[in-house]
Order: sequence, then structure tokens, then C-alpha cells
Amino acid sequence: MNTIGVRFREATVADCEEVARVHVLAWQGSFRGIVPQAFLDRMSAVQRAEAFSTGFAGPFYRMYVAEVLGRGIVGFADFGKPRGEIEGYDGELYSIYILPEFQRRRIGQKLFKLGTEYLVENDRLSMYLLTLEASPYRGFYDKLGGHVVRQKQIHIDGLAYTELIYGWPDLTKLLVE
Ligand SMILES: CC(C)(COP(=O)(O)OP(=O)(O)OC[C@H]1O[C@@H](n2cnc3c(N)ncnc32)[C@H](O)[C@@H]1OP(=O)(O)O)[C@@H](O)C(=O)NCCC(=O)NCCS
Repeated sequence: MNTIGVRFREATVADCEEVARVHVLAWQGSFRGIVPQAFLDRMSAVQRAEAFSTGFAGPFYRMYVAEVLGRGIVGFADFGKPRGEIEGYDGELYSIYILPEFQRRRIGQKLFKLGTEYLVENDRLSMYLLTLEASPYRGFYDKLGGHVVRQKQIHIDGLAYTELIYGWPDLTKLLVE
């Protein structure tokens, strides 16, 4: 599979509603059976859209989307200033989500490449992200050169989960196609 027929572009705040729908559908399609169903059922695209809009107002923020003709946005990733989870990193990948039927077509890899290039061009030479230890998608981060640098406990609907912090201490060493 490949990204033929997929258009990549920088997003604007006008994309927030569509991106929020992708975010919720990707969670519901990808994490069923991993996090509580009630949590997935409660996810609100309206609330997510508001949160993304707030993100655009931040001082150092960039989102990229992947679009398919006739289908609209099928994936996105957003990057920016670290939220302070870990010292010594100067960029964060906040979220990267591809609709289930479009996964494993190198869309995630291309969005990752666009975002990390943006960080490097802006002298942000390291990056981290947060993900669930229970996520079946961790192979993506391994493949793209990330390493677990820390873990912490979180709770989702009262259940304990381990959250992993994947770090890329030197983005200039990335060779993502
Ligand atoms: C994780 C995600 C962003 C990856 O994007 P994608 O477009 O599906 O992945 P790509 O096709 O670019 O994958 C590139 C490589 O990463 C690795 N990879 C991707 N998904 C993987 C998986 N589920 N398990 C193991 N390795 C994986 C593979 O090596 C893959 O290359 P290959 O298909 O030639 O083997 C996407 O699957 C997704 O949205 N998942 C659900 C939501 C999620 O977990 N988001 C991140 C939350 S922090």
C-alpha cells in the first residue's frame, strides 16, 4: 500500500471540526477492547474541535492533514511546544491519528516526516510523545526510531494504565522516507 491519491497539507483552524471527527473515529475504531467502551462512547467531536482550536492559538503549533478526494481528511498529526512531561525535549507530537480503513498505507509515516521536518527547521531538534503501553500501534514508533524514555501511571474511567513516553533525542538523525 502507498500514499498515491493522498494529499498532504498544513491544516488551519478551519479544519478543526473535520479533524476532531477523525480523532474520535480513530479512537473508537482503534482502541475498542483496550480502553473502557463507555470512555469511547462518550468521546465528543465537539469538545475535541474546541481543544484543537485552542491549540492553533498556541505560540508554536503545527498540524498536517492527509486528504483523499471524495472522502476528505483521513488522518492528521499535530506538533508543538512540549507540555513539560519530560525535561530536555523541545518538541512534542501531541497526536497522530489515521482512520482505521486508511492505516498501514504510509500516511502516518508521511505526517510524522512533515512534522519532524517542521520541528528541525525551527531548531526544535528533539521530540517526545505519549502513548498507552497497551496500544497495538507501538510498532509504528519503534519503526520510526523512537525509544521509551519514561513511563507513568494514568487512569481512564477509574482503570489504571501505563502511559509510555517515547523520545527522539536527535531529530536530525531521522531518516524517514
Ligand atoms: C499509529 C498510526 C498513526 C500509524 O499510521 P499508519 O499510516 O497506519 O502507519 P504507516 O503505514 O505509516 O506505518 C509505517 C510503518 O510503521 C510500522 N507500523 C505501523 N503501524 C503498525 C502497527 N500497528 N504495528 C506494528 N508496526 C506498525 C510498520 O513498520 C509500518 O511499515 P509497514 O506497513 O511497511 O510494515 C495509525 O495506525 C493510527 O492512527 N493508529 C490508531 C491511533 C493511534 O494509535 N494513534 C497514536 C496515539 S498516540
